[in-house]
Amino acid sequence: MSAAETDTDTSDAVRPVGEAVADLGAGRGPDWLDDFLAERLAELIALRRDVHRHPELGFAEHRTTELIESWLTRAGIEHRRLPGGTGVIAEIGSGSSVVALRADIDGLPLRETSGLPFSSTIPGTAHACGHDLHLTAVLGAGLALHASGALTGRVRLLFQPAEEVMPGGAAEVIQAGGLNDVDQAFALHCEPRTPVGRIGLKVGPITSTSDLIELRITGPGGHTSRPHLTADVVNALGTVITGLPLLLTRRMDPRAGAVLVWGAVQAGDAANAIPQEGVLRGTLRLMRREAWDGAEGLIRELVAGLLAPTSVSYDLRVHRGVPPVENDAYATALLRAGVAAALGPDAAMDAEQSTGSEDFAEMLEHAPGALARLGVWDGVGPQSDLHSAAFTADERAIPVGIRVLVQTVLAAQSGGSR
Ligand code: NI
Repeated sequence: MSAAETDTDTSDAVRPVGEAVADLGAGRGPDWLDDFLAERLAELIALRRDVHRHPELGFAEHRTTELIESWLTRAGIEHRRLPGGTGVIAEIGSGSSVVALRADIDGLPLRETSGLPFSSTIPGTAHACGHDLHLTAVLGAGLALHASGALTGRVRLLFQPAEEVMPGGAAEVIQAGGLNDVDQAFALHCEPRTPVGRIGLKVGPITSTSDLIELRITGPGGHTSRPHLTADVVNALGTVITGLPLLLTRRMDPRAGAVLVWGAVQAGDAANAIPQEGVLRGTLRLMRREAWDGAEGLIRELVAGLLAPTSVSYDLRVHRGVPPVENDAYATALLRAGVAAALGPDAAMDAEQSTGSEDFAEMLEHAPGALARLGVWDGVGPQSDLHSAAFTADERAIPVGIRVLVQTVLAAQSGGSR
């Protein structure tokens, strides 16, 4: 199929049909879900490819938002756009209970090298984290549930902008009331090391914290032959580059799993001139929430100690990111029941806590819930990591995701109180 044929128009024009993608849960029911996927899956695959060809960065997801809105409108599903201009909240069903399904919708500032026929057409922007699959799965689940008449409560679809930037779009969804009255919130995230058809589950933390650290060091500058008459900015940077990660391992509980890695350092031009300024930037990730609360104070203390003898001036900024995603035990049990109903008893597997971060964590500070890892490896090709320019995902993960979300909603609505 040519790339043009996969395009989905945002207007109400005739929608093209996508390539056939196998439904690994076909026949597992309920009948209305089997029928929905037999009828609409090709269209949803075409939507995913359209979104993939037109990725948009965080808080600029205008076309993506309009596409989602056009699908919701056509289905007769009530929705409202977030005040920031991108992202959508939709709601289906009626009743007092609310289950939220969250999808992030933004791409990354990368040049795609996957070689897919529907690769990004937007220079320097790519869906390298699978958010195009996430939004397709949540939309598909919402459409199927809306058409089914099987709901006994409400289901809220949270199409969240800007998961990849800090601060991210989760805060905007929360401010807009997206988590109000929510009993459980669920999200899927693509996992390229897990085979398609398998779902990774874990009770407790499943991602880590992420803070951004930025240190600007300044001095009078001078000649490299006379460092004693100035302040050696480059040497001071080096002291922090090696000293801070080392000291953290001695001052923080090793079980916090602190990972401080510098990603950028800039200073100087000439071999024989001490520069006036240098900048160092990196991220700190922690596997434990408790360690996160005291991390900034400790970093400030250690940087002050390391730089005290160097006579440089400095400005240290710690941009607080997100806590770990803490999967609630009951919500995880609902997901497990959903996975078993969707794909059989062997589809669920244990997931490990990742050192990556995810702003779904902020939503879970407002409602209990759980994030599951959606296997997207085809079992044959390379396992390109998330955020890799070559990232690819097996599209069979889309009907898998739809089935898991639908069955998890049904489990939540029939589960009663915990
Ligand atoms: Ni992501």
